[in-house]
Amino acid sequence: MTRAGMNPIKVIAVTSGKGGVGKTNVSVNLGVALCRIGRRVTLLDADLGLANVDVLLGLKPRRNLKDVLSGETHLADVVVPGPRGLKIVPAASGTQEMVHLGPREHAGIIGAFSEIAHQMDVLIVDTAAGISNEVVSFLLAAQEIVVVVCNEPTSITDAYALIKVLNQSYDVQRVRVLANMVRSPQEGSQVFEKLVIVTDRFLDIGVDYIGAIHYDEHVRRAVQRQRSVVDIYPTSPASQNFMELARRIDRWQVPRQPRGHLEFFVERLLTPISAAG
Ligand SMILES: Nc1ncnc2c1ncn2[C@@H]1O[C@H](COP(=O)(O)OP(=O)(O)OP(=O)(O)O)[C@@H](O)[C@H]1O
Ligand SMILES: [Mg+2]
Repeated sequence: MTRAGMNPIKVIAVTSGKGGVGKTNVSVNLGVALCRIGRRVTLLDADLGLANVDVLLGLKPRRNLKDVLSGETHLADVVVPGPRGLKIVPAASGTQEMVHLGPREHAGIIGAFSEIAHQMDVLIVDTAAGISNEVVSFLLAAQEIVVVVCNEPTSITDAYALIKVLNQSYDVQRVRVLANMVRSPQEGSQVFEKLVIVTDRFLDIGVDYIGAIHYDEHVRRAVQRQRSVVDIYPTSPASQNFMELARRIDRWQVPRQPRGHLEFFVERLLTPISAAG
């Protein structure tokens, strides 16, 4: 099964060291912002532990990736429509189960993603916080890892711990850092500086700053209404930051073969992870 001539798909995993820093809000609103500039975006909810994306958007998915794996349904039937054309795939809890699939199931799930790949420019993966095997398998499968941090000592130290493991145990060469809930652009840069001073000193990894999202009451209001802030408060400060972020990410080059392809993402996802070195 080759996909020659297919448009390359950006696969972006959103993660953090510490929980509650805004990963799910970033994933959803970056997705909606990319939709608003004309990209076709699918959001894979890879954190079913707390059933994140569906709660945030008031969705009630009846099926998830597990039903695709068990052959009960097609991936296209699992996709839930979100705001502005965003498509949401509720994942099965535990890719550990996916890791233990046989070759036939592997081929099945790769085929399932291939079926919807032609409708997709960007795949965003919202993960749980921390460094579980499950999270790591999603991160290693993606082309781009966005680490969300906020201006709290524990958020920064936990982000460092996560980046250290990705670099030293899994040989990750680059991560992107997004500051969330900052009161000014300067605060965002300061958060990044605090992180990069230790990554530069102790690790051999590229850490790129991709900007900041303001602390914005509109985000909380949107969460309460189970809507996306970019969708319902498009002129709010946070929404403007998300639009700017979307335009920046849209300019990222997608590497050509093999990482540009969705199959590669799914194959890596299904390969048992092993620490390097
Ligand atoms: N830019 C922001 N301004 C104001 N509040 C925010 C902002 N970003 C996130 N929040 C608030 O922070 C809370 C946590 O956000 P979110 O659920 O996205 O975090 P998370 O990192 O996905 O959490 P978890 O680790 O539990 O998955 C939400 O209630 C949301 O209202
Ligand atoms: Mg979350």
